[in-house]
Amino acid sequence: MSSAAHGDPLASAFARQAQDQRTKRNGSRPAGDCAMVMFGVTGDLARKKLLPAIYDLANRGRLPESFSLVGFGRRDWDDAEFASQVKAHVQERARTDFDEEVWEKLAAGLRFIHAEGFDDDDAYRRLGQVLVDLQDERGTGGNHAFYLSIPPNSFETVCQKLSSHGLARRAQSAADSWSRVIIEKPFGHDEASAHELNHAVERVFASDDVFRIDHYLGKETVQNLLALRFANRLFEPLWNNQHIDHVQITMAEDIGIEGRASYYDGVGASRDVIQNHLLQLLALTAMEEPISFDADHLRREKEKVLEAVHVPEDLGASSARGQYAAGTQHGEEVPGFLQEEGFDPESTTETYAAFKLDIHTRRWAGVPFYLRSGKRLGKRVTEIVVLFKRAPNLLFTEADENQFGQNALIIRIQPNEGATLRLASKVPGTGMDIRDVDMDFSYGRSFTEESPEAYERLILDVLLGEPPLFPRHREVELSWRILDPFIQRWEAMDTQPEPYSPGSWGPSSAHELLSRDGRAWRVP
Ligand code: BG6
Repeated sequence: MSSAAHGDPLASAFARQAQDQRTKRNGSRPAGDCAMVMFGVTGDLARKKLLPAIYDLANRGRLPESFSLVGFGRRDWDDAEFASQVKAHVQERARTDFDEEVWEKLAAGLRFIHAEGFDDDDAYRRLGQVLVDLQDERGTGGNHAFYLSIPPNSFETVCQKLSSHGLARRAQSAADSWSRVIIEKPFGHDEASAHELNHAVERVFASDDVFRIDHYLGKETVQNLLALRFANRLFEPLWNNQHIDHVQITMAEDIGIEGRASYYDGVGASRDVIQNHLLQLLALTAMEEPISFDADHLRREKEKVLEAVHVPEDLGASSARGQYAAGTQHGEEVPGFLQEEGFDPESTTETYAAFKLDIHTRRWAGVPFYLRSGKRLGKRVTEIVVLFKRAPNLLFTEADENQFGQNALIIRIQPNEGATLRLASKVPGTGMDIRDVDMDFSYGRSFTEESPEAYERLILDVLLGEPPLFPRHREVELSWRILDPFIQRWEAMDTQPEPYSPGSWGPSSAHELLSRDGRAWRVP
């Protein structure tokens, strides 16, 4: 029995504090009283991810009784119509079972504001009144999270309207009610535009009240990178240029553009996912151990890595881009990117991009980080592969050296979440044949708990006011700074990206990028 149980007040205070910290850390704390206002509530993301995630949070008891959700949009809906739309999306996509009682409670707090546009003053006046009513009727405490799931060119207008209608209040003390803003990517299209956007948003909201979503940071496996690296003794001594040969970060999708022409054309793989998701994975893989998980400490370490990324002089030799052609995938005929509905048939937007980056720090000098992402590739997989230098083969000279010897740590972000350590082992028999074998950890086998969806974790963190999983503006700008020179070069060339077949692993230039260095991409 602990001393706290014997009535030692100091010990029980410590025990309570430790428990509070544990609860805080493992995310089991429910949100306090609040309302969320969602702009872009009829969009793809809201329907597929955000609304189901809100229901899942409610079903897991993470939302307060007072929680209210106000949709803001052009549709001519009343509250009942909005509720029936939300219900349909929830029933179709929620991760947890549909429970009528949970739904009824959530539905009681659903409201809809019809607006002619994001600059419709009358709609903001009505929104203000609805928020006051919700505070009186449901006890939201005047705490409001504004979710901007809208194109970035409307961020400024919405922020200004919220401000001029007195809806975005800066808290003067911790006891005041709060106003937070949640921003979806793309956060600008280059460093300069990201800087301007940051400025526009932070003119209205205090920087601590701005939550920029990178949904990869909400993934359990991405957070596990920190545990893997810093809760183990094994990796840290090896995590440097003495032992690591290179790192590959892959985010592959087997789907095409899926009707997202209006978003994707002119954006492309680099802006869509490398500037954010893949560079975040790079930062988490390469950063020094933060002194705590506080947002400030964590972000500072990531920023240091991003700042140390070196953009090579020969941009062409350090990058590759491609565009998927028509062909067959999973046994089906699929159109090429240029034939997809809604695209300019001469579009130079890339659906595949790969980069070789160096990090100029003592730990990483000489260790290339290869990043690649593409649509319509062999399969859907996101992984980080850390390849170690070969062992000096002094003993097993008879064995085929290509069969063993390059240890690898493969961190599977998705699917089949987990990690594999590749080691050399003796093949059973009288000889001394050596071959690589895998030691495997999989979430499915090791844990009974199902991982929450990234958006559940991130939405809950916003409502709790927990910022560590949200990049601040400097991180976003530093990430653009890395990619801008490559993208500007491609835009200046104004040529078609190299075509690649659906179901393949990208254009030949991407393979050459590694073969020039005597390396090859891992086939996941
Ligand atoms: C989004 C991109 O950020 O991530 C999409 O805009 C992409 O193009 C998606 O399909 C992939 O997310 P996930 O979680 O399925 O890897």
